[in-house]
Amino acid sequence: MEERIEKIKTEYQNRIQQAQTLKELDEVFLALFGKTGEITLLPKDFSSLSVEDKKIVGPLFNQVKIELEKAIEERRNEVREESYKKLETEKFSLQLPKLQAKERKGHLHPLTQLLQETIEAFEKLGFQQFDAPHIDSDYYNFEVLNIPEGHPARNLWDTFYLDPYNLGSQPGRMLLRTHTSNSQIRAMKQLGTPLRIMSIGRCFRYEAVDARHEHTLDQFEIVYVDKKVNMANLQYLSEYFLKTILGKDIKARMRPKYYPFVEPGAGVDGLCLFCKGKGCRVCGGAGWLELAGAGMIHPTVLKNGGIDPNEYSGIAWGFGPLRVAMLKYGIEDVRSFLSGDLRFLEKF
Ligand code: DAH
Repeated sequence: MEERIEKIKTEYQNRIQQAQTLKELDEVFLALFGKTGEITLLPKDFSSLSVEDKKIVGPLFNQVKIELEKAIEERRNEVREESYKKLETEKFSLQLPKLQAKERKGHLHPLTQLLQETIEAFEKLGFQQFDAPHIDSDYYNFEVLNIPEGHPARNLWDTFYLDPYNLGSQPGRMLLRTHTSNSQIRAMKQLGTPLRIMSIGRCFRYEAVDARHEHTLDQFEIVYVDKKVNMANLQYLSEYFLKTILGKDIKARMRPKYYPFVEPGAGVDGLCLFCKGKGCRVCGGAGWLELAGAGMIHPTVLKNGGIDPNEYSGIAWGFGPLRVAMLKYGIEDVRSFLSGDLRFLEKF
């Protein structure tokens, strides 16, 4: 029996020393001390021993049992220490692997670029920026511009109306402004004469949308009031604007056109740069593209703005930057600009 105990001792001490992981040590532990482990089962055979032998084998067994338990515990600690050491020397990074997707750089929207160029060009001529609200009253959008309730010209500017009771103190029907011309009277009243402002921003219309019409659009308005301002100034400024944005080959022309807030009124056309006036798909065969409404500010409107029409005269226009952008970039469908489609935007 003593030999058997010694054999178990040496065999298992070897296995304990060779174990490399905690899992292997658990297996060794079970093989010794589990339900059917060698140490667990061994005392069953002690009954056949003589009292003398029992006196020797008993303490030997207890000692070997303790030694093996201790050896397993010590080896466990060593294995743990070794794995900690490995962690210290092992190099690994907490960073995520580099993303494979290609780097994408953004840029300003083509319309924003165009509007910034416009602002710079007109600041040089002493025009200051003047903002008017997107949500405005019938009064500023129509009434003071000589377009009273029921006037047939209102059909041109059908818009989206809002519930006045939810919109605070402003009198009259509230609506989404149809043009930047809602800045005119405010600017006249706030800044007086002489006046040079530009008003740039979003406008909205209840519009049958097609390749040349959008329900949401930008406008670029100028109002220039001084002594002896005339139509020649309007022609000059139109060419100046178009040449700045579209290059020296562009030409501007004016045709008579009716707007209730100007007299005389004009439509400003730009020569189609794609066909040089011959007629093509971009200009719809006309050779020219209508880009703005303009004219000499109507005396009634000047009066509404607190300006004496006998002393001062003024010109104003409202350009459609979307139309100008169509010419600049050769885009046939105006809807592309606000579509948010990256395949379109990435081309700029
Ligand atoms: N507000 C007009 C429109 O949206 C354009 C316009 C015409 C603006 C004549 C003006 C102007 O300032 O004088 O169609």
